[in-house]
Amino acid sequence: MKPTSSKPIRKILSLVAIASVAMSQLLMVLPSVAKDTKVDDSLSEDRKQALTHIVKQDCGSCHGMTLKGGLGPALLPENLEGKTVPFLQYTILHGRTSTAMPPWKSLLTEKEALWIAEQLKEGKVAESQH
Ligand code: HEC
Repeated sequence: MKPTSSKPIRKILSLVAIASVAMSQLLMVLPSVAKDTKVDDSLSEDRKQALTHIVKQDCGSCHGMTLKGGLGPALLPENLEGKTVPFLQYTILHGRTSTAMPPWKSLLTEKEALWIAEQLKEGKVAESQH
């Protein structure tokens, strides 16, 4: 007498195989975790110098080379008293509607605008030689 050859284990194995193929395809379509090499925590000294230059030349065209004001208001620490760094950063990034102050977000990152705002509050741009 032969043993019956219905082998439920085969069925289970083939289901597992199908499931694992489906799984691996699912994993392939998942986006690979992007490694963002551009996320840097601090600005380089070169970039800081370039930003200082931008502030004097570009911002200076309205705010004055020494930031004492012109078409735009003076941006010296005494003029910015009572204004927070985030507020100034926001102004730099987004400009002020219906004034001549343009938005800079296409040219400056949030971090750069933050750095500039900090330098303005501390009066460091006007002091610097760059
Ligand atoms: C085309 C002229 C112009 C340029 C260029 C310009 N600004 Fe301004 N900015 C203004 C004007 C005008 C105001 C005043 C807006 C208002 O009346 O509130 C202003 C306001 C500001 C304020 C807010 C000052 C305050 O007391 O609240 C900051 C900060 C500032 N600008 C930073 C910058 C920086 C940094 C740059 C360069 C990245 C720049 N601006 C370039 C015209 C300009």
